[in-house]
Amino acid sequence: MNEKKFEYAIHEYKTPFYMFDTDILAMQVRKIRDVLGDDAELCYAMKANPFVIKDLEEMVDSFEVCSPGEFSICERAGINMGKVVMSGVHKKHEDMEYTLKHYGDQIIYTAESLSHWQILTACTESLQIPVRVLLRLTSGNQFGMDESLIRQIIAGGVHKFITIEGIQYFSGTQKKSITKLENELHMLNQFCLDLNREYGFKVKRLEYGPGLPICYFEEEKNEEDQMLYGLAESIKKLTFGGRVALEMGRFIAAPCGSYVTSVVDMKTNKGEPYCIVDGGIHQLNYYGQMLAMKKPPILHFNHREGDRKEWTVCGSLCTVNDVLVKQYPFQNLQTGDRLIFQKTGAYSATEGMSLFLSRDLPQILLYSAKENFRIARSHFQTDVLNYFKPKETKLWNNY
Ligand SMILES: Cc1ncc(COP(=O)(O)O)c(C=O)c1O
Repeated sequence: MNEKKFEYAIHEYKTPFYMFDTDILAMQVRKIRDVLGDDAELCYAMKANPFVIKDLEEMVDSFEVCSPGEFSICERAGINMGKVVMSGVHKKHEDMEYTLKHYGDQIIYTAESLSHWQILTACTESLQIPVRVLLRLTSGNQFGMDESLIRQIIAGGVHKFITIEGIQYFSGTQKKSITKLENELHMLNQFCLDLNREYGFKVKRLEYGPGLPICYFEEEKNEEDQMLYGLAESIKKLTFGGRVALEMGRFIAAPCGSYVTSVVDMKTNKGEPYCIVDGGIHQLNYYGQMLAMKKPPILHFNHREGDRKEWTVCGSLCTVNDVLVKQYPFQNLQTGDRLIFQKTGAYSATEGMSLFLSRDLPQILLYSAKENFRIARSHFQTDVLNYFKPKETKLWNNY
């Protein structure tokens, strides 16, 4: 651990805060690229952590963008629109019209339903702008389309303004079985080959979200590398002849994040030692955590000599569910100490129920040895979002 960076951040910045170390981010991308070689492109699913997209821009081939909000972030960050894959289950005509008008054919779009396809057709025809499209195959949920609908669209033949680039597929996150990855890639390869045989349609791009896992808990075996190598081997076996783009969020971003919170109170209730921190479960999210029973990697920063004792760490929300971890052994824990929850680079800052109880959003710091600390977001008051004085509106019976 680079103790110095934590020492500085803790001295300088009020908790709770996230710290995303972009050197660690770069190391993780390099590791993934080293294993995959030229066999696959990397597409970063920005929902995992939008704060690091600019730092990732030169390191990844593309960004999966899933909402108008995520798209605005790309615009504000000045992301090269040639790297954007406009994805997402809810696409609106006006959003598509906007991106087409402003960015022309630079962006690739996914179609997850017949109505997405129809919106794309209508927009491209009215604006006379060509686009490239990926058809998303469903894995048996609300996302994507059935094979039969994809076949129907492809059988529809050449479209004046739309080039179908290929297929998108994602079936879930935190996958821990190499066999599952192998089976999915085998199925996708076969589907691509069938489309070529049956319709003369060549899949140029297979955009696949492998959902590679991060080992979050002390009691779990770390199989991150094994899964990455297994994925690389499965990709080598593909024969459909197009490019593969791996759509990943968690595996890229999780290792770079630390969530830092302070102990603000300590007590023993009915024999159980509790410590209260200034953060909470609304800002911290470990996939697979069960009733705070599993132990994520925590650094106790102000460690000092003294007895070890198990503490149940609770946050600042008024709910009994706000338990970050149960019975975690700390050495001589004291009020004011900082706890650093690691591997929080993916989905903690974005997935938490951060508006609950109107607590401030944590500050977000980006760190790298070269650029030192940059503030990506200051503490942000949320009470302003949780109550607006109602405005007068028209009477409904005048409608
Ligand atoms: C379509 C799609 N692709 C990729 C991802 C990223 O998944 P992960 O973070 O497991 O890599 C998601 C996550 O929800 C997704 O919905």
